[in-house]
This record gives sequence, C-alpha cells and structure tokens, in this order.
Amino acid sequence: MNAKVIGVGKYLPERILTNFDLEKMVDTSDEWITKRTGIKERHIARDDEFATDMAIIAAKEAIADSGLNVEDIELILVSTVSAELVTPTVSCQVQKGLGAINAAAIDMNTACSGFVSAMIIAQQFIKAGAYRNILVVGSDTMSKYTDWKERTSCVLFGDGAGAAVVTACEDGDGILAFEMGANGEKGDVLSIPSLKFSDEDIERRGGEKKRTFWMDGSEVFKFAVRIMGDSMLRSLEKAGMTIDDLDLLIPHQANIRIVDGSIKRLNLAPDKVYTNIEKTGNISSACVPVALCEAIKSGRAKKGDTIGLVGFGGGLTWSSLVMKI
Ligand code: UT7
Repeated sequence: MNAKVIGVGKYLPERILTNFDLEKMVDTSDEWITKRTGIKERHIARDDEFATDMAIIAAKEAIADSGLNVEDIELILVSTVSAELVTPTVSCQVQKGLGAINAAAIDMNTACSGFVSAMIIAQQFIKAGAYRNILVVGSDTMSKYTDWKERTSCVLFGDGAGAAVVTACEDGDGILAFEMGANGEKGDVLSIPSLKFSDEDIERRGGEKKRTFWMDGSEVFKFAVRIMGDSMLRSLEKAGMTIDDLDLLIPHQANIRIVDGSIKRLNLAPDKVYTNIEKTGNISSACVPVALCEAIKSGRAKKGDTIGLVGFGGGLTWSSLVMKI
C-alpha cells in the first residue's frame, strides 16, 4: 500500500505586500529583490490570523476536493514552525475546527522541508496498515518572525497554508520512493530562538532577545542548491527512475536562483518545474503544498503524472519524494 493524493487545498491571506511597499519600509528596491530572489509580492496574515486559521481553510478545501467526509480522516499531520500556541497544537486545533472527531493529531517541525517530511510520515502509517485516510497540512506565518527593519530577510518571506488528503492505494501508485535527512552540525546557519538565547543569537539580532528569523544567506543558498538536486536524484533512484521520468518537479520556493541552480544540477528542463515564488515569497512549510494545489488545479499536474516534491530547511533538514498522482 502507498499514500496517494486525492484532494488538495490552499489559503493565502488577503493582504498583499509588494516590493514597492517594502521600498518604503527598508533600504531596498524592487529591482534588487526581483533580481536576487524572483519575488515580486507576498501575502501577509492579519494580526489576528494565525497558522491554525490558515490551516483550517486549506484543509476544508482539500477534504471537499477529496470527496471524503471529515469523519473519514484518521490522522492530521501539521507541519509548522509558527504555531501560535505551544499547546494545544495547531493539528489539535485543526481537528476541532474541522470537527474531525475520528482523527489523531500531530504537529511536526522540520522547518521548510516539513510538508514533504509529513507526506513521507503519512506514507509510513498507510504502508503499515494503521490508517487509510490522512490529512497533511503545511501552514506558516513567517511574517510574525520577521524583523521588518532587517532588509536581508524581510524581503524573503510570506504567509500561507496548503493541504493534501492522502489515501491508501495499490503499490505502483501514489508515493513510490522518498529520501530525507538532517545535518544538525550546520543548524546554526538559520535560526529562530524561542526560550534560549545564546550571546551570538542576541548579537545577530541587534543586541536584543528577539524571536526573529536570522540566517547566513550564502551558506543556506549553497546548501540548498546542492541538497535539493542530490536528494531528488536519490529518491528517483530508489523508485527505479531517472530525471527523464519526472513530469513535474515542485521544489521548496525560497529563492528563484536556488530553484534555477537545483534544476541545472538535475539537468531538468525549466518547463518541468512549477514555481510560484513571484507571488508568494518563501512561505516555509506551505510552499510545496500551495504549489502542489495550484499545479493540480490548473491542470499543470495531471492524473497519472509522476511528480517530484523536494524541500530543504532549518535544522538543517531536507526531504524529497516521487509520487504518481
Ligand atoms: O527557507 C530557507 C531560508 N532561506 C533561504 O533559502 C535564503 C537563502 N539565501 C538567499 O536567498 C540569498 O543569500 C539572499 C537573497 C538572502 C541574499 O542574496 P545574495 O545574492 O546572497 O546577496 P548578499 O547577501 O551577498 O548581499 C549582496 C549585497 C550586500 O551589499 P554589499 O555588501 O555588496 O554592499 C547586501 O547588503 O546586497 C545587499 N542587500 C540588499 N540590498 C538591497 C542585502 N539585502 C538587500 C535588500 N535590498 N533587501
């Protein structure tokens, strides 16, 4: 048995912040942001809008799209780095918001690679015969961790949520192979402190104990280009496939130059890659499921296609999978 996607949904907050808006906030320009990142605009959650609110909207759409009833969902996996509460978790609040009374609920965090990791975990429960129908969500409000005075990172992020319902299918269909990994040794190149602040964390945040995002951009960049290509190839190899077998690749959308570098490494034609970074920015866990939802609903990804999903993120972590949809 494998896990197969049978429904998708997404939510992007109403408010749009353009590069021109950012020009009025920090010393930057539309030209710099477009050239260095490929981002033109991003959606920003309201002050009273959180990861749970966005996850519920995306999840409702995915369940409706799947044709299942909410009571059919047996497990809810939510990937997020921006849960508004430590407990109850986002997944438990989503269970309540949906009325998914038969579902267990688990939050998980492998940062931006989280949705792909959650899909891989869903596959394990289905393969083991423990559950048939699982809701997988990626939801993040990166804007709430953004230092809006720090031009290097504030131009990169946005908010949003994406969801997929997966169900048990025969071998040879659904998720065919995966690869994931971590390198904790390099974790320091990308961080958001919570309870503990090292002297370095404080220094990096202008001498303050701020719960804001910080990264060494060029280190993350180099890691991302290498790992997205390598991991995708390892998943394809496990599936007994080559890059030519992919109909569409949906990568984590952090920077268009990272995507371009990865597909060059993979020797993949640009028309086989789905990108939406221009309109969303980096929405962390939500990047891949939002792009997957758009690709399926627009007909870019069709029934029977072989799709690659690949992500990298804080930790450092990475995940990739190959699936038939
Ligand atoms: O989900 C994972 C999270 N993050 C990522 O994946 C991000 C990975 N890294 C990146 O995307 C890129 O490293 C950045 C977009 C963050 C930076 O791009 P870069 O080409 O590596 O630029 P840089 O950091 O080398 O900076 C080049 C110049 C610097 O000025 P000087 O020192 O050459 O005078 C920066 O101060 O650009 C300056 N700069 C800016 N200028 C205008 C940095 N940010 C900005 C900005 N607007 N927003």
